[in-house]
Amino acid sequence: MENLKVLITREQIAARIADMGREITRDSAGEPVIFVGVLKGAAIFLSDLVRSVGLDATFEFIGVASYAMGQNPAEQRLAWDSTGEVRLTKDVDQSLREKNIILVEDILDTGLTLTFLKRLLLGHQPRSFRVATLLDKPLRRKLAIEADYVGFTIPDEFVVGYGLDYAEKYRNLPDICVISNIL
Ligand code: IMP
Ligand code: MG
Repeated sequence: MENLKVLITREQIAARIADMGREITRDSAGEPVIFVGVLKGAAIFLSDLVRSVGLDATFEFIGVASYAMGQNPAEQRLAWDSTGEVRLTKDVDQSLREKNIILVEDILDTGLTLTFLKRLLLGHQPRSFRVATLLDKPLRRKLAIEADYVGFTIPDEFVVGYGLDYAEKYRNLPDICVISNIL
């Protein structure tokens, strides 16, 4: 049976997001910003982050999937460890040309997803492009890419909750937990 252990509490998450919001507000100094959330994992983080900034902010969602990703946990675990190619499942609904973009990710792991999305979004020729990720697992990085705003740097463990899933489960847990006893 899967086992869950709290790594980051809801209170720690809330406090850190308040800090990130202040940082983003300061850096963007009165400019309008479009937050682009990566489905589905970043939806909960985005909803808290946008309410912590004092800016003229709007948001969009973009969807990606790994080609190796299947429905069952074994395949998902495989996808997590693969060099999996990324594909777009939902594009943004507007042109981002000349806009200030902040891409919002749940977790930066190998860097494959972010590298793919950065290239795609830079193709829109935005005015500025920055990345905010709630979690960062630098030990797993395969491609050299970093976020501008990082909530928490965590060890090489599989985590769930606060938007993050294991086979689509546990996204609604309010705390971020390490899951063990998975394949
Ligand atoms: P990357 O392309 O390897 O950087 O992975 C990014 C995506 O992999 C994230 O947006 C998550 O969907 C997924 N992922 C990576 N690590 C974890 C984890 O620990 N828990 C849940 N999902 C993860
Ligand atoms: Mg996932």
